[in-house]
Amino acid sequence: MGHITLARWADWIVIAPASADSIARLVQGRTDDLLAALCLASESPLAVVPAMNNKMWSNQATQDNINILQSRNIHIIGPASGIQACGELGEGRLVETEDIVTELVCLMVPTKLQGKRVLITAGPTYEPIDPVRFIGNRSSGKMGFAVAKAALEAGAEVSLISGPVHLSTPSGVNRVNVETAQQMYDAVMEDIEQFDIFIACAAIADYKPEQVKNNKIKKTQHSDLKLNLLPTKDIVSTVAQQKIKPFIVGFAAETENVTDYAKQKLQDKKLDMIAANRVGEKIGFAVDDNSLHVFWPSGSQVLPLAPKTQLARDLMTLIIERYDAKDSTKNS
Ligand code: PMT
Repeated sequence: MGHITLARWADWIVIAPASADSIARLVQGRTDDLLAALCLASESPLAVVPAMNNKMWSNQATQDNINILQSRNIHIIGPASGIQACGELGEGRLVETEDIVTELVCLMVPTKLQGKRVLITAGPTYEPIDPVRFIGNRSSGKMGFAVAKAALEAGAEVSLISGPVHLSTPSGVNRVNVETAQQMYDAVMEDIEQFDIFIACAAIADYKPEQVKNNKIKKTQHSDLKLNLLPTKDIVSTVAQQKIKPFIVGFAAETENVTDYAKQKLQDKKLDMIAANRVGEKIGFAVDDNSLHVFWPSGSQVLPLAPKTQLARDLMTLIIERYDAKDSTKNS
């Protein structure tokens, strides 16, 4: 039976645009067309995005119907106001598609981070060799920026410390730009005790040149050139050693033995969670899609291949679950 199959299949049902007639039919629980029938048969959450002439919208019948839908926990998105298809001006326009998506995401992701502060690092670091050269890596910042947006959608106040990337800041996120591992360390440690959750997504250089030359190293001066490298400070481990520390989520970028190395890092760096990904040519770094294997001390979950924007939301849902679980153990 088509309407039952669809009713069971959908995670969410969104009616956009929803006419005055569709709204009235939902109120009555009609079953004489597919849409009304599957809405009646489904237990999935339902969102209605009204679009109609402004007089039809403000009519008491429609307003009563909207109130009834809201009392049944059906989400109403919009309408917007402005010039309408009929040429009149007023309330009843369909909300822009992007705004519908944003509102749906806010409804789907538990807004459990209201009042919480989340600090995220993203992108690569550049470790200078001389005024024109540096040691860097392939991180584009896409994953970290997506995580920042997901944290914002979950209701958090979000700060993002970013290495050199070509991405625009998600609106509402407070961004600090840095270049080197030391600058990222300083920016993170500045007021880390103010944050509830720290997500270390940046690909920070593990080593930096011992000396930064004041002038460009000339090719003619050397037949072979050796760079002496010193370790950088491990930021996420330093945060984990603080007396007052946030819930800490690290990332692990590995080319082999992903699971073993990630579990080792979770333990060695004393993290609450670690999100492991395989990296290499056209995997993990810079691409739009990725998958993660997330570990925490008592469990793990695979987040399958998806656009980084979606992956970040799934990761955020998992972080919120583990954060809540840790919080309730602390308070019991
Ligand atoms: O930016 P994209 O192009 O979207 O790519 C995303 C990504 C591949 C960069 C991301 O998914 C990722 O894996 N980020 C972590 C990269 C990394 O440096 O992993 P690691 O295994 O070397 O480090 C482990 C953890 O220690 C990380 O949380 C890292 O931020 C942290 N670290 C590392 C070195 C250091 N000096 N200080 C640190 O805090």
